[in-house]
Amino acid sequence: MGLRQMLPVQMNRMVFIGEARGKLRLPPGIVNGEFDRRLHLGATDEKLPPNIANRMQGLDDFQVVVERGPGLHTLSVPLVTMGANFGRRLVIVRGRDGCLALLSPVGLTPDLHRQVSALGEIRLLIVPTDFHDGGVAAARRQMEGAALLVSDGLMKLPGAMPLPTSLPGELAAELLSIPIGGQPSVNETVFLHSATGLLLVSDLIFNFDHRWRGWSRLLFRIAGAYGGPKVSRLFRSCIRDRAAFRESINAIPWSKVTGIVPSHGDCLFSATERVERMLKAI
Ligand SMILES: [Fe+2]
Repeated sequence: MGLRQMLPVQMNRMVFIGEARGKLRLPPGIVNGEFDRRLHLGATDEKLPPNIANRMQGLDDFQVVVERGPGLHTLSVPLVTMGANFGRRLVIVRGRDGCLALLSPVGLTPDLHRQVSALGEIRLLIVPTDFHDGGVAAARRQMEGAALLVSDGLMKLPGAMPLPTSLPGELAAELLSIPIGGQPSVNETVFLHSATGLLLVSDLIFNFDHRWRGWSRLLFRIAGAYGGPKVSRLFRSCIRDRAAFRESINAIPWSKVTGIVPSHGDCLFSATERVERMLKAI
């Protein structure tokens, strides 16, 4: 394989360097999932470099809590991976008892923590994929009364309990969980939020449109994650059992899906049929 063929492959492996710390054996300070200045992961009181802040402010929920429907809010925080502005979206789900579950949690600034706490008591922290351990330690310290439910590969995290297929009673009616099979190094679970019909995904779908420029655009393009909703090359390359993967995609009740809320990029509130077709064609 020549250099031109190897470069995209190697770049794709590195694109998730911020999220796949454990797998890539990065230094312990990063593996622990603490806030890391090089990654700018998590909301921070420190002033963000203007190039990061300017670009991520295109996300409509960047560092502000936005209501997406009854009992569902989102909030995006900075995440810079290899110099590209990936950002990370937290999803806040209100359960039947009024308590909250945070999906893909990170430590929050006091102001953001106040905004989230104003919605209800934070009872559950849910890490839906092995790639989203970054920020969990800081979230636990800040929201120490909350239980931590994690994907299969993250059971090594202190205090972690397995994310069950049937969610605890207070969330069972709000979220239908669909584990994505066939990817033993990812173990992502996606959720259908029943009140809104929004499909909550972590890395299954990225949605970076054409407004992203410069280095971020180049990296997203190399990752196969640029120009609208996409399944990245790395995510595809993690599939080890295609039949199990397809079975999971088919288990998503697509007729009820009204939109997609990804962890990275913009939310998508139309043309979900295109995403369904794309996933079913893998
Ligand atoms: Fe991610």
